[in-house]
Amino acid sequence: MAKIVGGIATSHVPAIGRAIAGRLQQDPYWKPFFDGFPPAHAWLDKVRPDVAVVFYNDHGLNFFLDKMPTFAVGAAPQYVNADEGWGIPTLPPFAGDQDLSWHLINELVEREFDIVTCQEMLVDHAVTLPMKLLWPEGDGIPIVPVCINTVQFPLPSARRCYKLGEAVGAAVEAWQSDKKVLVIGTGGLSHQLDGERAGFINKDFDLAFMESLIADPKWATQFSNEELVEKSGTQGIELLMWLATRAALPGAVRKVHATYHIPISNTAAGLMVMESGS
Ligand code: DHB
Ligand code: FE
Repeated sequence: MAKIVGGIATSHVPAIGRAIAGRLQQDPYWKPFFDGFPPAHAWLDKVRPDVAVVFYNDHGLNFFLDKMPTFAVGAAPQYVNADEGWGIPTLPPFAGDQDLSWHLINELVEREFDIVTCQEMLVDHAVTLPMKLLWPEGDGIPIVPVCINTVQFPLPSARRCYKLGEAVGAAVEAWQSDKKVLVIGTGGLSHQLDGERAGFINKDFDLAFMESLIADPKWATQFSNEELVEKSGTQGIELLMWLATRAALPGAVRKVHATYHIPISNTAAGLMVMESGS
């Protein structure tokens, strides 16, 4: 059976793509952010995952407001990156793992998640940036993207996203494969890009949320999405990806590494590496 080695949750901000392209990692603005990643690289070198399930939110590239699935799972041989309007350089396609995709899709439907299946799926900065941050020198590993709508209300609740994560974790563990699986979650932490509260960041809440993933993983499920938006900003709701990631990890987890840096662009940038089976 497949084994889940752990999870990595990280923020995604298009400006990071520009910094990578411009080799600005040592620039004073960027250094504290990029310095957070070498411990994650060291952990990846140690556990050597074969494939990653990536919880992410599309921002209008693959799904637009006219057709917005609540949950969508990729089943493509490869995932093409395209210009989504931020003007950041596009990356070559990412390889898929169709065996894991179809296994996940079958298991999720069996477990009463009525997902959308995508045999073609363009991926935006929410997928490309974490891949480039985690594997700066290479192409990374094959992926199965799982998209959660955080763009257009109604959004799935934290409780529902937690259950999705649990179902994905159980499905992966039932996969007849000797592969080691990493779970990645990308989005958050607190940020609001527009409106009266543009620039809103809530460090206390973010740190409490990060801690909760280790000590009390269901903590955030007590909040409605309106409450989460109030606490973390309209786009801070992307923290649902972190929650699904944690929920996919079986049993207790060990915090391998965590960083929190304010701000990157308008966003509180967090990174957390969790090892499962600890
Ligand atoms: C920013 C953050 C995001 O999560 C995003 O998707 C786009 C932009 C930002 O802070 O600039
Ligand atoms: Fe985003």
